Amino acid sequence: MNKKLRPAVIAGNWKMNKTPAETTALINEMKPLVKDANCKVVLCVPFIDIAAAVAAAEGSNIEIGAENVHFKESGAYTGEISAQMLVESGVKYVVIGHSERRQYFGETDQTVNLRTLAALNAGLTAIVCVGETLEQRELGYTETLLKFQTKMALTNVTKDQLKNVIIAYEPVWAIGTGVTATAEQADEGNGYVREAIAEVYGKDVAETVTIQYGGSMNAKNADELVAKTNVDGGLIGGASLKAEDFSIIVKAASK
Ligand code: PGA
Repeated sequence: MNKKLRPAVIAGNWKMNKTPAETTALINEMKPLVKDANCKVVLCVPFIDIAAAVAAAEGSNIEIGAENVHFKESGAYTGEISAQMLVESGVKYVVIGHSERRQYFGETDQTVNLRTLAALNAGLTAIVCVGETLEQRELGYTETLLKFQTKMALTNVTKDQLKNVIIAYEPVWAIGTGVTATAEQADEGNGYVREAIAEVYGKDVAETVTIQYGGSMNAKNADELVAKTNVDGGLIGGASLKAEDFSIIVKAASK
């Protein structure tokens, strides 16, 4: 196990929050607070905020991501956004398969896989989310489910493309609930994801993949979570909407 083989990435997931004007203000507030980061700093923002985010982050160490991408290159898909559109807008990362999309918008393991392939083929880095519900955990299916979701998401992803994949382990019961997984649970879940990658691509490759934890990570608990062997940073919802809190998490991952 060697954390030095993979970069820690702290990514904010703003969800459906912030207008373009608020985006500019928040990023301007964050920039000086995270400028000395020793980890990657990413903000995944609503589509409509991308232009403002890219402009505000220019010349800083903050990179911009989107929160979803469609899997087709173009066509009659009203309301959707293609990978190429994101690339041309200055986006470098995209969140795929977030549990809120799985829960409310009909996202399946198949569409997660298609979106991942589309993102990778366009040169984006995919932040693919996996995670069990409380019921699945209580039934003892956490390992099976995490390995299945990971392998499904990565179907037909080449070893070379895997360099542009980040997996975020986000237990559904910990998202937006204030209930954080313990550092041990986070490390264990991330470990299952790494094992699944090792089963497909080999152990050496699996050691190079960044695996984040997400779910109520905040300024108070980040230190303990990111110190774990298998936790290479985090995907941060609520706490990424506050410059000070987000910067404390970035500092925790920079140690
Ligand atoms: P949370 O969200 O930090 O607000 O729990 C995390 C996420 O959904 O990515």
